[in-house]
Amino acid sequence: MKAHKISDSVFCIYADITTTDLFEGIWPIPNGVSLNSYLVRGEKTALVDLIRDWSEAPKQLAEALASAGTGFDKVDYLILNHLEPDHTGWLGEFRKINPKAEIISTAKGINLVKTFYKEETGLRAVKDGEKLDLGGPELTFFETPNIHWPETMMTWEPRSGTLFSCDAFGSFGALGGRVFDDEFSPEEHAFYEKESLRYYSNIVSSFSTFVERGVEKLSGLDIKYVAPSHGIVWRKDPRAIVDRYLKYAGYSKGATEKEIAVIWGSMYGNTKKGVDAVIRGIEAEGLPYSVHRIPDEDVSYSLADAFKASALVLAMPTYEYAMFPPMAYVLDIFRRKHIFGKTVLRIGSWGWVGGAKKEYEAMIEALKWESVPSMEWAGAPTGQELAVLEERGRELAQAVKA
Ligand code: FEO
Repeated sequence: MKAHKISDSVFCIYADITTTDLFEGIWPIPNGVSLNSYLVRGEKTALVDLIRDWSEAPKQLAEALASAGTGFDKVDYLILNHLEPDHTGWLGEFRKINPKAEIISTAKGINLVKTFYKEETGLRAVKDGEKLDLGGPELTFFETPNIHWPETMMTWEPRSGTLFSCDAFGSFGALGGRVFDDEFSPEEHAFYEKESLRYYSNIVSSFSTFVERGVEKLSGLDIKYVAPSHGIVWRKDPRAIVDRYLKYAGYSKGATEKEIAVIWGSMYGNTKKGVDAVIRGIEAEGLPYSVHRIPDEDVSYSLADAFKASALVLAMPTYEYAMFPPMAYVLDIFRRKHIFGKTVLRIGSWGWVGGAKKEYEAMIEALKWESVPSMEWAGAPTGQELAVLEERGRELAQAVKA
């Protein structure tokens, strides 16, 4: 790994994480993720955001620092924009290498340094708008709470126009040796766009109001580089990722895409027959849709497409007088991630008796969904039932288009 130059005094150094581990212990990252830190050098040296000891991240970062002619032991200030351990898990080891560096964060962040890492000395809490002179470059700290945790701040370096935004404007997906937006092809950008939607819906979606507030708060800055701590550094078009995040925040408020996410589980194929019929109806209306089979596919992916879509089809059989359990898990995640305001068609087969309906209706109470008439059937669907299901698919698509 090498340092990537942003300006004479600002460098991106990062670790690519390739692992079968789950991000946050929940979300799959088959395409990896990057943990980005930034080196800011004047007479004093600051390191903005750290790493956890994961996929040889400390070694990768040490190599990048060495390529810039420095090392962890030369750091005067460690700036922690956000305390989640993907950015701080290696703090204890860093302290052993460099006991003199001052650790800087918000007051809430400093409290988390104490509770997570039991550090008590060399800590400085900064206030909103406070500056740090590095002897040349100067950093300004802006509190941006809840993007992603309550302690979060962003750091601004005005000479280069770099906003170190930590989780905000980030994405899943390892970087593979390049960091800047103009170094990736349109196809690669399409990949990172999908991964940024998945990242946003999985990690940030509950905090969309705070994303909007943060963007508004920093709107007076002349940002030339958006430098997040996951994913691409934006220099050719820094506004692109900000606008994308505002669009995602809008999804939380119902400004969604005219498309349908079909999420289904089936035990013996009878619910699947109904899903196929509904899809025929959606296709007849020419509306875009995505399909997610659970539990075969992790909820991370259906969450992303459900977050973006105006409408959902939820298909599940009754299982022991209640919902097919993997769908109950999906709905619980949707509730926790504030997947509100959707138009929803629920369908499913039952065996000897129903029961999914009752549990489903209780689970979605908090979700403010508009339900179109649901459809259940006993065992295998009849030809007549399939015709009704196809019509329901059509009607849902028409409702989205209206
Ligand atoms: Fe990348 Fe909320 O941590």
